[in-house]
Amino acid sequence: MSRRFRFTAAQGTTTMLRIPALTIAALALLAVAGCGKQETAEPSPGSAAVAARPADPALAEVYDGSCKLCHANPAAGAPLSGDHKAWAPRIAQGTDTLLDHTINGYQGMPPMGLCMQCSEEELIALIEFMSGAKLDP
Ligand code: HEC
Repeated sequence: MSRRFRFTAAQGTTTMLRIPALTIAALALLAVAGCGKQETAEPSPGSAAVAARPADPALAEVYDGSCKLCHANPAAGAPLSGDHKAWAPRIAQGTDTLLDHTINGYQGMPPMGLCMQCSEEELIALIEFMSGAKLDP
């Protein structure tokens, strides 16, 4: 008895769900196609930031252990590595202000960017790497 009951129930379900399920599948396909197109045209700054790494191995190691934690994480609210648009207004403040904010901290940016042993030269090199801009001496 239980077997026959299950069979009928399953049949009923398939018929009832056929049209909505197809519609949902079609909508899902459209949504996926839409997203795919956007990503090919312009990769999100987040994914580019995750892949970015300084060419100098020593600097890359420092970067991995500090700046990258936030500057490659869109959720951190930090200007992302390689996101030139986000960095432009910050670079425009000038080297002194940028260094002051980096060394002493600035809103969500922690003092020294968590690299307590970093020299001023290293901090400048890291900022230049992340922003893609050359800082005025
Ligand atoms: C814990 C997260 C975190 C880490 C680690 C971090 N930053 Fe930041 N950084 C931020 C955030 C958030 C901001 C944006 C602050 C704002 O404008 O509100 C920021 C902003 C900056 C700015 C722009 C400051 C300005 O005046 O506009 C510079 C330069 C900077 N960070 C350099 C660095 C360097 C170099 C490192 C690594 C040595 C580093 N950061 C590590 C979170 C971080």
